[in-house]
Amino acid sequence: MRAAGKVIADAIEAMRRSVRPGVTTGELDVIAGDIFKRAGARSGPQLDYDFPGVTCISVNDEAVHGIPGKRKLRGGDLVKLDVTAELNGFYADACISVPVGKPRKEALRLMTSAQAALADGMAVARAGAPLNAIGTAVDATVSAHGHSVCRQLIGHGIGRRIHEPPDVPNFRVPELTQPLTEGLVLTIEPIIAAGTGWVRDAGDGWTMRTSDGSTSAHFEHTMVITKGNPIILTAV
Ligand code: CO
Repeated sequence: MRAAGKVIADAIEAMRRSVRPGVTTGELDVIAGDIFKRAGARSGPQLDYDFPGVTCISVNDEAVHGIPGKRKLRGGDLVKLDVTAELNGFYADACISVPVGKPRKEALRLMTSAQAALADGMAVARAGAPLNAIGTAVDATVSAHGHSVCRQLIGHGIGRRIHEPPDVPNFRVPELTQPLTEGLVLTIEPIIAAGTGWVRDAGDGWTMRTSDGSTSAHFEHTMVITKGNPIILTAV
C-alpha cells in the first residue's frame, strides 16, 4: 500500500504543478494516467466502479467524482484532484484542493479549514480511540471555520478495494464507539462546503455538486492506525 501511496503522491504533485488557467481537466488526468502506466498502477475508480476517467477532478461547487474532460480551468477556480490507485492488489487514495491562478479569499479559507480538519482528525486517530472521535474532531474544526461538512460523503477503510469497512464519517455518529485498532488502514477526508454542505447528483451519473452552489474543498490521506500518530501512506 505504501507503493500505491507513492504513485498517488507523485501523480498528485505532477498534476498540481500543471494546474493553471486554460488547462483542461482531461489534460490533468492524462498526466496521472502516464505516471500510473510507468509505475504499473491502475486507476482505482476505473477498476472498482468503471469510472470514465483515471482520476476524479471536481471544480468549485463540484464536491466529488467530477469526470475529467474538456472543461478549461479558469483563474479563481478551486480544483480538487482526487487520486486512487491500485498497485499489486493494494489500493491507496488521496486528494488535494488547488486554487487556479489568483485564488479567491473564500477558496483559501475553505482550504485552510479542510486541511486543519484533516490534521485534527489525524491527531485523534490512534489505536484504542473510538472511531467516532475522528468525525467529532473534523466537524468541530470545520464548524469553527464557519463551514459545513458534506455529511453524505465520508472516509473509509481501504486495502484490497477502494471502499472497505469501516465508514469514517466527518461528523459525530454516537453509535460508532468501536475502538480503532493497530494496523487498520483508512482514509480521513473532510469534504466541506461554504454553504449547507448538502450535495446532489449533477446529472452525469457521477459528479456530486453542492445543492446551494457553494464552493467545496477536499483534502484526503490514506493512513495506518498505530498507538501513536498515524502513518501517512500518500504523503508527497
Ligand atoms: Co476516499
